[in-house]
This record gives sequence, structure tokens and C-alpha cells, in this order.
Amino acid sequence: MALPPPSPEDSVLVTGASSGIGEQIARRLADLGHGVTLVARRAERLEALAAELHRATGVTARVEVCDLADDSERGSLIGRISESDVHISGVVNSAGFGSYGRFDGLPLDREQAMVRLNVLALHELTGAFLWPMVQQGAGAILNVASVAAFQPLPGFATYAATKSFVQIFGESLHAELMGTGVSVTTLSPGPVATEFGEVAGVGRADDMAPAGAAVSAQDVAAAGVRGMLHGKRTVVPGVATKGIALGGRFVPRSLLLPAAKRVAGARLRNPGSA
Ligand SMILES: NC(=O)c1ccc[n+]([C@@H]2O[C@H](COP(=O)([O-])OP(=O)(O)OC[C@H]3O[C@@H](n4cnc5c(N)ncnc54)[C@H](OP(=O)(O)O)[C@@H]3O)[C@@H](O)[C@H]2O)c1
Repeated sequence: MALPPPSPEDSVLVTGASSGIGEQIARRLADLGHGVTLVARRAERLEALAAELHRATGVTARVEVCDLADDSERGSLIGRISESDVHISGVVNSAGFGSYGRFDGLPLDREQAMVRLNVLALHELTGAFLWPMVQQGAGAILNVASVAAFQPLPGFATYAATKSFVQIFGESLHAELMGTGVSVTTLSPGPVATEFGEVAGVGRADDMAPAGAAVSAQDVAAAGVRGMLHGKRTVVPGVATKGIALGGRFVPRSLLLPAAKRVAGARLRNPGSA
């Protein structure tokens, strides 16, 4: 139950490969000799990364430009890959974003795009590539959730709910697939310095971490790929992040929610304020 050893016909599909954790996972996989199929919207970044990975490691790095929040673009991507002669031995669903603020003050269409990307795209890519893996008795999926998955999070209501879906879905699949040769691993990092914080409107995401809790994107990627190679159920990188995840699971909501809301800050009381 793990990612099969690298082979020239195989490719690991990595979404969100133009930045942050997804990019680092693609780098790690290529270092280990795996061919990669890089997916995101920013073509130039993907092309540059693919060329660099091929030069540095000799692996085949393919580029698929796709807005995964768009149903029809997503469908075309899956169709193109399924009809090609590329064999997808693994899937890494890292593409995702968050937004910060009180829900009633956030643009609803962007919140819905988040659900389409973080939940629907991950669900559809998992479904599309899992079936052939199970038929062949080999393959691995790595889904990126977050430490936000383990409890409700005022200020990140939609984001925490999407990541909770990823966590529960992935852990359920992991148990369902025991004995099939196929694994689903869920990676749940705490705050990591990537473009995530800027996109979410919170500045640097790792500035929100308690002292010593931030883990680099490289270390998160290495832990995720190790988990995928060994078919682990979940990976929570970093000791402090493990503590936060435990707290989220076991501290009563009546205590946790007011504390989380205090940490989330003023914008929850005054939607739209900086
Ligand atoms: N950084 C953190 O603190 C943190 C903590 C826990 C979990 N996570 C999770 O880790 C994953 C990766 O985030 P990151 O920190 O690496 O953030 P990031 O640097 O902003 O990377 C996000 C990636 O998602 C891609 N993406 C965004 N919208 C997309 C769309 N509509 N279609 C296709 N690709 C899209 C982006 O590429 P394009 O813009 O080129 O499309 C980019 O490659 C996310 O699922 C996030 O929720 C992050």
C-alpha cells in the first residue's frame, strides 16, 4: 500500500505545483526519480519548474494548465490525461486557498470558488484516478488538508469546513482501501510560509503560528511524500502542530470557540475592516 517505485511510463499528478507546498512536493518526487504532471493556472511558472526538474533530475515533467475551480476545465483535464498514454501512479491534491474574515462580509462567489477547488476538485481528481489504481492494485493519493481541519475556526469558516471534508474523506478512504494496494494519505500542516497568507488576506501565514510552530514548505513536502511512500493514513508535520491538532479534536467547543475567535481578531467584529 504505497506509491509504486518510479518507472519511465509513470507520472505523479501534482496540483498546486506552481507555488508553495505543491511545488515542493513536485521537487521532492522528482528528486526521488518520479515523473510528474504539474497542474495549476500559472503556465509560465509550471513551464519553468518542469524544465528545471527535467534538467536537474532527468525525469519527465509534464505541464497541464487548468483552473481546477472550473467544472469544464477540470473535466477536460481528466479526459486529456485519461486518454493519453501517461500512466498516473499517484495524485497529490495540493491546490487550495483560504480567505479570512466574517463570512457575511466576504464575497460569496469567492467562498463558493473555494469550495469548488478545495472540495469538489480534490474529490473529482481522487475519484477519477483512484478507480484505475484499484484495478491495477497499485497507487497512492496524497491530499493536503490543514490543521484547520480539526475544529471550527471563526474567521476561516469556509476554509476550515473544506479542510474538515478533506480530512474525513481521506481517512475514510484510507480504511476502505486496506488490502487493495492503493493508499490515501492526508497531510495536515499548520501555518507554512507560502503565498497562502497573501491570497487569504492575512499576510504571512507562518506569522499566525505560535512560536516554534511554523514548519517550512520543504519540510512539510518531505513529510507528505514520506507518508505517501509508506501509505500512511495521516501526516501532521511538526510537534507543535500535532499539539494544536490534538487540542482541536479534544478541547470542548464551548472553551475552544471563544478562544479561537479572540485569536482571529477584530475583523470578525467589523467585517470589511483591515
Ligand atoms: N500555507 C499554509 O499555511 C497552509 C497550511 C495548511 C494547509 N495548507 C494547504 O496547502 C495547500 C497548498 O497551499 P500553499 O500553502 O502551498 O499555498 P500557495 O503557495 O498559495 O499555493 C496554492 C497553489 O494552488 C494553486 N491554485 C489556486 N487556485 C487554483 C485553481 N483555481 N486552479 C488550479 N490551481 C489553483 C496555485 O496555483 P495558481 O495560482 O498558479 O493556479 C498554487 O500552486 C492548500 O490546499 C492549502 O489549503 C496551507
